[in-house]
Amino acid sequence: MTDTPTPKSSNQMWGGRFADGPDAIMEAINASIGFDKRMAAQDIAGSRAHAAMLGATGILERSDVDAIREGLLTVLSEIEVGTFQFSTALEDIHMNVEARLKDLIGDPAGRLHTGRSRNDQVATDFKLWVRDQLDAAERGLLALMRALLAQAEAGADWVMPGFTHLQTAQPVTWGHHMMAYVEMFGRDLGRVRDARVRMNTSPLGAAALAGTSFPIDRHMTAEALGFDTPAANSLDAVSDRDFALEFLGAASICAIHLSRFAEELVIWSSAQFRFVTLSDRFSTGSSIMPQKKNPDAAELIRAKVGRIFGANTALMMVMKGLPLTYSKDMQEDKEQVFDAADNLMLALAAMTGMVSDMTANRESLAAAAGSGFSTATDLADWLVRVLGLPFREAHHITGSLVALAEQKGCDLPDLSLDEMQSAHAGITNDVFDVLGVENSVRSRISYGGTAPERVREQVSRWKDLIS
Ligand code: ARG
Repeated sequence: MTDTPTPKSSNQMWGGRFADGPDAIMEAINASIGFDKRMAAQDIAGSRAHAAMLGATGILERSDVDAIREGLLTVLSEIEVGTFQFSTALEDIHMNVEARLKDLIGDPAGRLHTGRSRNDQVATDFKLWVRDQLDAAERGLLALMRALLAQAEAGADWVMPGFTHLQTAQPVTWGHHMMAYVEMFGRDLGRVRDARVRMNTSPLGAAALAGTSFPIDRHMTAEALGFDTPAANSLDAVSDRDFALEFLGAASICAIHLSRFAEELVIWSSAQFRFVTLSDRFSTGSSIMPQKKNPDAAELIRAKVGRIFGANTALMMVMKGLPLTYSKDMQEDKEQVFDAADNLMLALAAMTGMVSDMTANRESLAAAAGSGFSTATDLADWLVRVLGLPFREAHHITGSLVALAEQKGCDLPDLSLDEMQSAHAGITNDVFDVLGVENSVRSRISYGGTAPERVREQVSRWKDLIS
């Protein structure tokens, strides 16, 4: 940031009441320009909408409005090309823009703030910024879901172990596992979309807190900025930060999902599992161990959840004790939202890249699917279905056969019919049909189950939903 020297005299925006300039420490704690300059485009969009409305309602002369509009466009281009001189003494983006506008167009700049305050201005700017992030999160989620759907479609019938307690539980399909994440990110998508609908009201024109005596048209500015309506209560409008909290809440839950998936990718790409091979593009090597290919992107995604939760907690703490309406505490609402948004978008993009590029190792998945007595439940179900045993008894008999296989160091399908019959005389050769993992997954045809036909139905349902 290029800085202009601190003026010795009082502040040019509100200096009328102040004889002395601020102490350097006061200036340092008070200034937000170091971070809120990220809202420059939103600030100028808000000011342009406000100025146009002041013209349309006859509150300002047309000539002033034209000068303001031209001046604001110049300020925007200076910021975009990087020639704008940001000043800490001018505290925040709102006063930096207005001061530069005054340099450029003189007196009409001083009329821009008619019928508004920095309180409704900052609420408007920040809402516009967060709204853009909700839109970016929606795009990021859709891209990730499409990558997962492609994996699910390719491997709708590939068998793999399903886990509980990270212990082999029952065979499932790769497609089914991918689709579990589609459901999770689909809920994130729903939260992002809900939040956008709820937040889309305009604070502009609430002024400092009480509204204004000027005959402003808040519907006009709301519409110009893409809001559905003006916020209905001026006190609420300037003191509400729910929109940022909802964004962080949705981002936090999404980050949990990203982190859980990242954890699975770390486990699955290890030499002990070999379920997936991550692409070179999303892995790194070790400077000392030549054999290593590390899942760094997944690990970083797993870690990012911490800072996103941190942002959520921090903003809840900032807001929790504030009386209505605006308090300067609320300036502390932005930095961490910016950081959380940046990292959420990066994590979504990195996860999308990893998922698109990764290769599922079908043979390793199938081999693991059959180990760990994963079809024990199928055996118990067979005893119930074919021999009519009560499930508890079937469970007991199956348990004894698992113990026998464990003792022999083999899997359930490797036991002989004699050995099977030692546990229950009624068992026949047909039992071996259900002990294979392929048959096991094909049999789980209940709605939401792992059978390939059910998985393919879910893939096409989601394709329809998000196309
Ligand atoms: N920089 C301030 C913020 O981010 C702008 C609003 C200042 N309003 C005020 N009454 N001091 O919250």
